[in-house]
Amino acid sequence: MFSNLIGQERKFRNLINGQWCDSKSGNFIDIKSPTDGKIVGKVPAMTKDEVNEVIVAAQKAHNQWRDIPINEKAKILYKAADILQERINDLSDILIREIAKDKKSAESEINRTADYIRFTADTAKNIFGETIASDSFPGFDRSKISVVTRESMGVVLAISPFNYPINLSASKIAPALIAGNTVVLKPATQGSLCGLYLAKVFEEAGIPAGVLNTVTGRGSEIGDYIVTHPEIDFINFTGSTEIGMRIASITSMVPLLMELGGKDAAIVLEDADLDLAASNIVAGAYSYSGQRCTAVKRILVIDKVADELAEKIKKHVLELKVGNPTDEGVTITPLIDNKSADFVWELIDDAREKGAHLLVGGKRDGNIIYPTLFDFVTEDMRLAWEEPFGPVLPIIRVKDKEEAIKIANESEYGLQASVFTKNIDEAFYIAKKLEVGTVQINNKPERGPDHFPFSGVKASGIGTQGIKYSIEAMSRLKGTIINLK
Ligand code: NAP
Ligand code: G3H
Repeated sequence: MFSNLIGQERKFRNLINGQWCDSKSGNFIDIKSPTDGKIVGKVPAMTKDEVNEVIVAAQKAHNQWRDIPINEKAKILYKAADILQERINDLSDILIREIAKDKKSAESEINRTADYIRFTADTAKNIFGETIASDSFPGFDRSKISVVTRESMGVVLAISPFNYPINLSASKIAPALIAGNTVVLKPATQGSLCGLYLAKVFEEAGIPAGVLNTVTGRGSEIGDYIVTHPEIDFINFTGSTEIGMRIASITSMVPLLMELGGKDAAIVLEDADLDLAASNIVAGAYSYSGQRCTAVKRILVIDKVADELAEKIKKHVLELKVGNPTDEGVTITPLIDNKSADFVWELIDDAREKGAHLLVGGKRDGNIIYPTLFDFVTEDMRLAWEEPFGPVLPIIRVKDKEEAIKIANESEYGLQASVFTKNIDEAFYIAKKLEVGTVQINNKPERGPDHFPFSGVKASGIGTQGIKYSIEAMSRLKGTIINLK
């Protein structure tokens, strides 16, 4: 198992047309662990010619794969899910070393992904087409019937981010494949070892040659080439708003499905269960060191209960364990790289300088940012608006729910939001007004369960993910019309 994937000196290969291929150029990128800087592996920095070869292989494999019955495709997905779980120890070890995810979260990501893949197969078996009679439209009799079927798009380019390199790759690959597409996976460079292992799992499960292929290399070098390649029929991207916008601006006539950044607000009303709100907010803000799109990234709390809430949150934050991803019970691990830690540190500095009250943290050791909590954050501070992608949380005090809604909606982002209240009418009133993809009532923002629709509005994305929705997004409706005499 996992043979062929790695050559000598920890040099990884890419899956191209069913073969694990060595780098042709001999150029590699060192993947270093965020924890100790040691090299975990080396991935090919593919050239444009190599990328082209991959896309052509995917394009050639499409016609055959498209016609394989769904029940056969589903068998391969079930097998992939089983292999993933059989190899949970190896894979979680890679997640721990490559992206410094703590062991519990790493195992949870793998199990969740296996469930995702199985559920995708189950769902696809139950997606049916429809027939539409013509006589409901004015002026038509019953002489026409449209037989509406679902067709694949062709080659799906799946670009995934570093923070869930297994789950957010598989959540593109599995629905794309079951819908009859072939796939080119371009994982985040820091996360590409996980992406390559995942591709290996699908290959071992029996994915035919050319149906799933991988590309490694820096997005800044090969990104523009790959997203504008004429044989790419669909782009499914998860990552920052900055890169998402770049892709949207340079592509044309290619459908896009995008999950981008967020600045999820937790709105806490006067009547909220403050213990519930505090524990949810802390779990939501700090797990995997805040490197989650759905992390709570600001609190909007009614002034009257702000002192009490701040005290409760502070208590939980002080209990968070900082350490290495292998340490038992750790929540805060080193951030993905120093550049990310520098950015978080800038936001902390800015809030401090502008007079926010530091309640906890504000300390740094290399790329470890200690869990940081600020109170009295105001709208002139960067922390009120920017996505840190790190363990720092601002409390913004508001006078009433209208002010909370206003500030929440002034963000460029619109991924999720939470409302904590015991009053369901208030919850629905606020939920209706929030410009986000999902509102959680009395819970932290979160993506799962993965068959729920997941979407971002404004700068947080395009389209809707979620198992059924992803299959639908990566397929198209085709009408074949029977004209009766
Ligand atoms: P990122 O820097 O935008 O990178 C995402 C992916 O895009 C990586 O595979 C990256 O490759 C690639 N890329 C970079 N430049 C490219 C280009 N010019 N053309 C094509 N691809 C390019 O994001 P990240 O740091 O990995 O992830 C963190 C961000 O993702 C946060 O903003 C977070 O909110 C967002 N995110 C959103 C969701 C969601 O569901 N809404 C989920 C997870 C993460 P390289 O690594 O080689 O640069
Ligand atoms: O980083 C973005 C992920 O899609 C978030 O998923 O809410 O389950 O942590 P999660």
